[in-house]
Amino acid sequence: MIGFSRPAHQFVCDGVPLSAIAEAEGTPVYIYSAALLRERYQAIDRAFGGYPHRLHYALKANSSLAVARLLRESGSAADANSIWEIELARRAGFPPGDVIFTGVGKSAAELECAVPLGLKAINVESAGELARVEAIAERLGVTARVALRVNPDIDSKSHPHISTGLKINKFGIPLDETRQLVASIPRRRHLALVAIHVHVGSQITATGPLASAAALVGELAVEVRGHGVALEYLDLGGGLGISYDHRHVPTVEQYARVLTDSVRSTRLPIVIEPGRAIAGPAGALVARVVDLKPRTADSDFAVLDAGMTELMRPALYGAYHRIEPVRPNAASERQYEFVGPVCESSDVVGRDRMVPTLEVGDLVWIADAGAYGSAMASNYNRRPLPAEVLVDDGTWRVIRRRQTLDDMTALESV
Ligand code: LLP
Repeated sequence: MIGFSRPAHQFVCDGVPLSAIAEAEGTPVYIYSAALLRERYQAIDRAFGGYPHRLHYALKANSSLAVARLLRESGSAADANSIWEIELARRAGFPPGDVIFTGVGKSAAELECAVPLGLKAINVESAGELARVEAIAERLGVTARVALRVNPDIDSKSHPHISTGLKINKFGIPLDETRQLVASIPRRRHLALVAIHVHVGSQITATGPLASAAALVGELAVEVRGHGVALEYLDLGGGLGISYDHRHVPTVEQYARVLTDSVRSTRLPIVIEPGRAIAGPAGALVARVVDLKPRTADSDFAVLDAGMTELMRPALYGAYHRIEPVRPNAASERQYEFVGPVCESSDVVGRDRMVPTLEVGDLVWIADAGAYGSAMASNYNRRPLPAEVLVDDGTWRVIRRRQTLDDMTALESV
């Protein structure tokens, strides 16, 4: 079995005991399954079957160099959200033509670097940004490949912090304005409109919003054709949710069917930008219990050596991640509030969890932390970024060593 499982007394990743890695590398440590990363990529790719498509892995989910390179070697293209993610992608082996530059608020300096690179597309978020890209392209004497990100005013039904498709959200271009910009394209010599883009949110667990957004892009594509502009593809964004708590989420086959059914009549290839659905389940955070203390009559605090600095999702979104002892004590269970060492009460990793009884020094693993885990870690309280380990084919290697205080202060002067 690939990924995280408990074949006997303790949890393993691709057969390697989590405790062996934790003993060797210390805690907290992120552990990734190379086999599961590959399998998640391939499963989504397979799900689209014969429909022309390309996966652009959303680097923001986890852009550790080794993870990015592994996905590149699996055949993925990339979605980058900053000029630094673009550079990271290049160092991981993605050619510029396989990179899409997405994201709100691209700075003048970022655009200046990005336009001459020959990216697959710059996904433009406003009329102003389109004009800025055009001006740079004109000055450089090149044609910039752009996609327009439409704001479809669709509710993704996900957490408000990670919903992006409503009019009130900062993302994309309103539908009417998108239509006007499309109409302006034929007279703008330094712009090539190659796609329409939509991304209505992340951790989406209902197919309805994905279908509506895709259908709208499909309709727009027909209008674009009416202006004599030949799109190359439709970029339907990322957003497919994963099951953090064993609840039902759409399968990759259902996801692919919903998207392809919505745009099939356009006969245009699809690009998708999955992040979480690839990396999420393929990573876990392993931490140690550093203290136990009473909380209520029925529960204790379990203080871990990892918290919001290592995994911010629970504190930021109230997100749920499964937490289990690495070597469960079969004899009894108790309720715990899993908290981190950071000086604020929001530093909770898991609330009211019934798990096998813990002792100080025990290891726990926090599941489905491969996406938006390490990528969102911080140095708050001067806590070092944790080490990262990749398990591949029965062996494992450190893909990022634990940060030191010297690493942190290397940028500082007195
Ligand atoms: N494309 C665009 C334009 C995006 O903004 C995102 C995510 C993706 C693709 C990838 O979405 P995914 O397939 O991973 O859902 N930090 C939050 C998630 C923020 C997502 C931001 N954009 C979390 O921890 O849940």
